Amino acid sequence: MRTEQNINELEALKQKEIMERLKVRIAKKTEELGRPLTYCSVCFGCQMNAKDSEKLEGILETIGYVRSESEDADFLIMNTCTVRENANLRVYGRLGQLKKYKKKNPNMLIALCGCMMQESLVVEKIKQSYRHVDIIFGTHNVFKLAELIENKLNSKGMVIDIWEGTTEIVEDLPSDRKYDFKCGVNIMFGCNNFCSYCIVPYVRGRERSRKPEDIIAEIKNLVADGVVEVMLLGQNVNSYGKNLENPLSFAQLLEQIEEIEGLKRIRFMTSHPKDLSDELIAVMAKSKKICKHLHLPMQSGSTKVLADMNRRYTKEDYLALVEKIKTAIPDISLTTDIIVGFPTETEADIEETLDVVRKVRFDSAFTFIYSKRTGTPAATMEFAATEEEIKERFDRLLKEVQDIAKETCSKDQGKIMEVLVEGLDEQDDSLLTGRLSNNILVHFPGDASLIGTFQNVKLIKSKGFYYIGERV
Ligand code: 5AD
Ligand code: SF4
Repeated sequence: MRTEQNINELEALKQKEIMERLKVRIAKKTEELGRPLTYCSVCFGCQMNAKDSEKLEGILETIGYVRSESEDADFLIMNTCTVRENANLRVYGRLGQLKKYKKKNPNMLIALCGCMMQESLVVEKIKQSYRHVDIIFGTHNVFKLAELIENKLNSKGMVIDIWEGTTEIVEDLPSDRKYDFKCGVNIMFGCNNFCSYCIVPYVRGRERSRKPEDIIAEIKNLVADGVVEVMLLGQNVNSYGKNLENPLSFAQLLEQIEEIEGLKRIRFMTSHPKDLSDELIAVMAKSKKICKHLHLPMQSGSTKVLADMNRRYTKEDYLALVEKIKTAIPDISLTTDIIVGFPTETEADIEETLDVVRKVRFDSAFTFIYSKRTGTPAATMEFAATEEEIKERFDRLLKEVQDIAKETCSKDQGKIMEVLVEGLDEQDDSLLTGRLSNNILVHFPGDASLIGTFQNVKLIKSKGFYYIGERV
């Protein structure tokens, strides 16, 4: 019998065969040209997209393309985001500019993928107005890149392959890791929450959890390869495992991951407040490896707006949850996402949001102006406020968030804490940048040989959102 598992294994084998064929073709082309074929990978959006881009880059490297940062490469792949309108506009802007590269290098291939491509109107527009694009695919078939390239090389027209949804999770394909010492690991895909403003459930499909044994095996391999920190990725990690054949909670998965020898730090995102269990708080509180950081998007502090957003918790629920977390894990750093200008938001509602911000005192908050996404329930709601009013609310909230974050983030000044060294400081290469367990960055003198190691650093001066430190 063909089980889902062996269909997925067959698919992985098929892709590997295609990669072998492409390897030969690309090696031949490289010889003809007397130079390597290059690829440039551009990624917009969230950490899920960043992870998908690592997989795409892994496939491209496997078949023989060499990485380039320049957009006039032989193969350009753009992984798109559509969570807010301006993400889409940026892609169209970039696409226009690519035409001139293709004129210079007619063999150049341009591929588009990611969330924006799951919208049929977008694909129509590209078909009509951006005919220099060669390959379009979506979020469900990233593993098929090699096959799509082969199809393109064997045909003339644009290759378009968009899946409405999928239950397939194809394991064990190459991935090109950005860092040697840390790595994102998908634990689930998709989202079932349908927050009324959000397009993610439409473009990423229904929730699907990876099997715990596949996740554990991947992390063990990563650790054997030098990884000390993993970031478990999912749109809503707190509902991990509910649809597995043998259900397992996210907290139970974390306990299994904690057991992996050699793994030092565990991070995860994103958590939906409605699904965050007492079991998870207890596991985090006793864990030696789970980082002291929780990203807990609140979106709004108004119970009325939260109901209109279909978030399924109230202001009081959120505050009570934060209280419970802070009591169990006193040194936790809390961060959040907030949307300003949701259609039904009034002046009284933004005051509620400000009230929660003042009570919780987040270490940082990502603030967004509501962006209408066609096809979502909120897209048809009437606006209660003008654009100017919304802009003013946004500025007011941002100032409050930043003032509080500056104070909250400096609470450890003077202490000695452990950082994982991530790289050279981008501005000053006599300094290193490291990350504390609570996700705050520390810059301190040191050289590149320390990258990927843990160091004890004295946090000498808080600079608001980061520290200047000294190795002890
Ligand atoms: N408009 C503005 N912000 C949005 N987000 C999601 N959808 C929208 C939208 N339509 C924000 C939410 C989410 C974050 C990833 O993006 O705050 O948590
Ligand atoms: Fe979007 Fe809500 Fe799902 Fe997050 S939980 S991805 S905001 S629908």
